[in-house]
Amino acid sequence: MPGPDDAIVLENVTKAFGTHRVLDDVSLTVRKGSITVLLGPSGTGKSVLLRILVGLMRPDEGKVFVGPHDIAALDDRRSRDRRLLFDVRRKFGMLFQDGALFDDINVGDNVAFPMRMHTKMSEEEIRAKVQDKLARVGLPKAAHKFPSELSGGMRKRVAFARAIALEPEIVLCDEPSSGLDPVMSATLDELILEMHRTLGICFVVITHDTAEALTIADTIGMLAGGKLVHYGPKSELEHSCHPALRQFFDRATVGPIQVV
Ligand SMILES: Nc1ncnc2c1ncn2[C@@H]1O[C@H](COP(=O)(O)OP(=O)(O)OP(=O)(O)O)[C@@H](O)[C@H]1O
Ligand SMILES: [Mg+2]
Repeated sequence: MPGPDDAIVLENVTKAFGTHRVLDDVSLTVRKGSITVLLGPSGTGKSVLLRILVGLMRPDEGKVFVGPHDIAALDDRRSRDRRLLFDVRRKFGMLFQDGALFDDINVGDNVAFPMRMHTKMSEEEIRAKVQDKLARVGLPKAAHKFPSELSGGMRKRVAFARAIALEPEIVLCDEPSSGLDPVMSATLDELILEMHRTLGICFVVITHDTAEALTIADTIGMLAGGKLVHYGPKSELEHSCHPALRQFFDRATVGPIQVV
């Protein structure tokens, strides 16, 4: 059960696709107002975990508490549960790995989408907020462009602007910096730190970039082979000698993580 300082609590979460057990008995606690970074080899279930956190995917077993609600027990075919899930999702902003922008509406409308969905803000307020968020990600003139007119990195930044649009309690970012040049990637890291400092937003960030992890995280976790093999404060990282974690930070080709 979650305590008053916990934003998300996962208990014994398991998820399989067919016979492939992607998450195997994963438990973790994300503290309110923390920045948690999840690392792990490709295909190890990080994106699946993020989808489970926000209630877009249900685990086969286990509990997923967001505040007092176990969202894994909610069934969106029931109207009461659907309402609860809607309220829980209001707490989240989500940046999907592929950006997942709506291609048929412009950038401004993409960023405005969660505001129109979850608030009764006037169009004037929405326009001002959209402009503010786009300026924060370095795209002050992009509102009228369509996603197909943008580069991959620009799409990613629009997706980040949409994720923070509502200044939600928790922002989940699936590889926010992949496809960005180092300067833009560092700018995004600074933005995450600033939103965290000024608004107290809790971030859960998946990345392959260990330097980024060390810059922004206060808590670092690592998934490997379906298990959460490391999870704890950044300060404890150097004491962990889990070989998969060491291999990641050392960029070593030899270790438990095999490419083929
Ligand atoms: N909807 C789905 N149906 C079937 N298999 C799936 C589904 N979603 C994910 N998987 C499988 O689950 C495994 C983990 O996928 P996931 O996308 O979570 O990996 P990841 O850790 O995010 O990898 P990457 O770092 O490459 O993004 C993969 O083997 C993938 O094929
Ligand atoms: Mg992924």
